[in-house]
Amino acid sequence: MSIDEAVAELERGALVAFPTETVYGLGADASNSEAIQALYAAKGRPADHPVIVHLASIEALDDVAMHVPDWARVLARKFWPGPLTLVVQRRPGSVCDEVTGGRPTVGVRVPAHPIALDLLSKFGRGVAAPSANRFGRVSPTTAEHVRADLGDEVAVVLDGGPCAVGVESTIVDATGSAPQILRLGGISVGEIETVLGRAVAVANSGEIAAPGTLPSHYAPSCRVELATAQEVATRARAASATGASVAVLALASTQLLLPDNVVRLPSPATTDAYGQQLFARLREADALHVDLLLVVPPGPEGVGAAVIDRLRRAATVSK
Ligand code: TXA
Ligand code: MG
Repeated sequence: MSIDEAVAELERGALVAFPTETVYGLGADASNSEAIQALYAAKGRPADHPVIVHLASIEALDDVAMHVPDWARVLARKFWPGPLTLVVQRRPGSVCDEVTGGRPTVGVRVPAHPIALDLLSKFGRGVAAPSANRFGRVSPTTAEHVRADLGDEVAVVLDGGPCAVGVESTIVDATGSAPQILRLGGISVGEIETVLGRAVAVANSGEIAAPGTLPSHYAPSCRVELATAQEVATRARAASATGASVAVLALASTQLLLPDNVVRLPSPATTDAYGQQLFARLREADALHVDLLLVVPPGPEGVGAAVIDRLRRAATVSK
């Protein structure tokens, strides 16, 4: 389907899945209450969980926001288009109440994917879009993932190939006097601190009512456990000796001697590649019907911190 047809779908209140550089989004007209209700229904998402509004350019920020602090504009100028979401005071009358779960604040970002930007600029208004997966499940990083999760609910899936970043945007709360990071993501804490020239706090995830920060989010169906490179082979052997089918995910540089009946998933070569492939690998473990996925996480540099965060959440679910 063409962008023009997708724009027409948004205008008539339908849902359009589209690629961004982070993950695929499930988009709806942010000013249309019925469209947003349909969006929540399709995702199976509780109505009090706010959705990020996607804009075509930084110039549109003040259409939906008020009282944006100067330091937040500095971040927007530096990182947009890109994997940064700013939570700002919402301008009354700009986006409908359903988008923000009734909050006086709104999350906004300008995504860095040509298809997303084309869609947003032709549509000309904000597009509310959560990740295009069912609530609580692994975010989609290909059009195929979206079809597998939501194929029946979405009229249009724009295919932009695999997402380049692969984990969601970093969310910065810009409604207080100082910036606070609500969700680790594609932009590292260090990059944000460098631009602002000061230390930035990372919120304790338990305190924020945001689905991407719930402990048991981003979960595949198989059990996920974190392991060190030193112990992973022993643990894989022990688990498979009990009859469990086991897979391992680790960087390509991690040399492992694994038993023949343990599957080593395709290994990312770098931390960036780890982020880019993470959600596809979690889905692959499910497709292989393994009982246990043992993961050796990357180091915390760059996108590594967000990868570790997602893996911890995936591992938290009791199964
Ligand atoms: O990379 C991304 O951010 C992707 C792509 C599609 O843009 N979107 C995404 O959306 O991850 P979602 O809905 O899966 O996660 C959005 C997160 C949630 O944790 C939500 O609670 C938080 O953003 N959020 C949105 N608006 C907020 C607000 N006003 N206050 C606090 N948190 C907010
Ligand atoms: Mg999500």
